[in-house]
Amino acid sequence: MSLSLVIHAADEWADAVAAALTDRLRAEPRLRVCLPTGETPAPLYAALVRQADADLWSQATVVLLDDYVGLSTDDQAAGGPRLRREIVDHVHPASFIDIDQSGDLETAVQRLDAAAIGLDLAIVGLGLNGHIGFNEPGSTADSSTRVVDLHPRSQEAAEGYGTEGAPERGITIGLARLLEAGDLWLLVTGERKAEILSRALEGPEASDVPASFLRRHATLRVVADEPAASLLASR
Ligand code: GLP
Repeated sequence: MSLSLVIHAADEWADAVAAALTDRLRAEPRLRVCLPTGETPAPLYAALVRQADADLWSQATVVLLDDYVGLSTDDQAAGGPRLRREIVDHVHPASFIDIDQSGDLETAVQRLDAAAIGLDLAIVGLGLNGHIGFNEPGSTADSSTRVVDLHPRSQEAAEGYGTEGAPERGITIGLARLLEAGDLWLLVTGERKAEILSRALEGPEASDVPASFLRRHATLRVVADEPAASLLASR
């Protein structure tokens, strides 16, 4: 494991991560990156929209990390529309690979998995229950891209995002594919994530905290703000 832990002051976190991603895109314009939705990346996306030069994303491919199953596109919590609203529609990547649920779910899973092969960079957030994407507790390092039953905490989070659909299932890139990505950035902010981040990085590697398996990635970079990192012994 060669984990790098980068900690920023809370009010500098979004601009710092945006600058790092901007640098990466300048060096590698054809970047193939998966992006999460949620509260954590929202300020990052706002900063990226502010910072982006017109052509920065014009050759990049963005893949949606995960989404709820069965929400209407006007549901506030629906991941695809949210990612479009917060970043995709502003920066215009060459390609945006949404999770298309218009056909059967098996086809959606196959398409998502194919899109997740060969990611240069996987950017993920951390669930309060230790999930990554919708790799919920019980997932393992070899978990595939799939449809999952949502953990009660993830259902609560969906309510917090303003869902009207009470989703019971999610669709996610599997941990196995995320671990194959060229680079992997775990974004974590806020004091409420401090305990689960310390379990993910410093507790046993175990399926009750799926994020703990990210430590198997050769170049994992954890980018936290001060409050989220406050319980880490290794900081
Ligand atoms: C959500 C999504 C993840 C996200 C995580 C953290 O439910 N499944 O992709 O990274 O939980 O969300 P937040 O950033 O809102 O805390």
